[in-house]
Amino acid sequence: MAKQIKIFDTTLRDGEQVPGCKLNHSQKLIVARQLEELGVDVLEAGFPVSSPGDFKAVEMISKALRNTTICALSRSVENDIKVAAEALKYAKFPRIHTGIGTSPDHIKYKFNSTPDLIIERARAAVRYAKKFVEDVEFYAEDAGRTDNEYLAQVIQAVVDEGATVLNIPDTTGYCMPDEYGAKIKYLAEHVKGIHKCDISAHCHNDLGMATANSIAAVLGGATQIECTINGIGERAGNTALEEVVMILNHRYKDEYRTNIKTPMLNPMSRLVADSMSMPVQANKAIVGDNAFAHSSGIHQDGVIKHRANYEIIDPRIVGVDHSRIVLTARSGRAALAYRSKNVGYDLSKDELDIVYQKFIDIADRQTEVNDTDLNNMLQSIFKRAI
Ligand code: KIV
Ligand code: ZN
Repeated sequence: MAKQIKIFDTTLRDGEQVPGCKLNHSQKLIVARQLEELGVDVLEAGFPVSSPGDFKAVEMISKALRNTTICALSRSVENDIKVAAEALKYAKFPRIHTGIGTSPDHIKYKFNSTPDLIIERARAAVRYAKKFVEDVEFYAEDAGRTDNEYLAQVIQAVVDEGATVLNIPDTTGYCMPDEYGAKIKYLAEHVKGIHKCDISAHCHNDLGMATANSIAAVLGGATQIECTINGIGERAGNTALEEVVMILNHRYKDEYRTNIKTPMLNPMSRLVADSMSMPVQANKAIVGDNAFAHSSGIHQDGVIKHRANYEIIDPRIVGVDHSRIVLTARSGRAALAYRSKNVGYDLSKDELDIVYQKFIDIADRQTEVNDTDLNNMLQSIFKRAI
């Protein structure tokens, strides 16, 4: 039976902290409701101690959502944890997410501390959080650059204190997939009692590896992926939810499953892009404008003959009505005939030859020939020539 992988969405926390992506409360509520509908298992709603606005957002989302676990971030600081617990008071399934930096750089330059003292702070934070909620997730910030043996000691300490989820963030997007997957496997094999917890992948995209690393983590034993819609997030972003979900759905169907309703992926992407004024790059996997668009003659001919020649996913599975055949100067006769038929002209071979000459003339002068251009061109030709 396929193993369940939990999807932890942090669009409203790690995603929203990006400059320019700030949402007001009603926008956050709309996004949160849509994420619940999409099927995320956990929704990280904010960092309550950071501002009264974030506190209110977590509280509001906690009241509104009834099926999803609501998570609030904190540092390993008692007041952060207490405030997170207050903000989560109305949540049906509350989770406190607490943690501390564990890499040599973080220990020395962020905390001016020692490895042993960091373990003590991690342990104390989880112990304190457990006074408020049962579900406590611990993050070892910069775990990507933390030595595996020491990381296992930190994780052992928090497992012993009752942490339910163990987040192993590659905070700086430093790891390669084989390293990150091996790190997760190492922890799974060396921490006693870890099988009772979820191991969570939280990857950043500084080297463009966030998606690959998250999948490597799952192969290494992780049972939760932390991600954002459209991959928005600090610097180069976080793991893109739509990418990891579709990789699991499409390439590992027999091994893994998620609760995500994939036909909602494109509408969800547009909602986040529009409300955050953060456009999605056209060539973005799954949700980019060009993800199911074909513009070269060879590809267009192939797709018209048999969609799977050049598409590995049926666009309807991710909420796109149909593939697009884009008419440009690179298009061939097959694409022109196909698009002409769509606007009501079923051209014979001779007609197509005539139309094609005129089409190439126009296409050479503009980037794309849209339906209006096509209609105008066909009308003018048929009035005069055919
Ligand atoms: O990237 C990171 O380490 C984080 C933690 C705060 C979970 O976002
Ligand atoms: Zn992060």
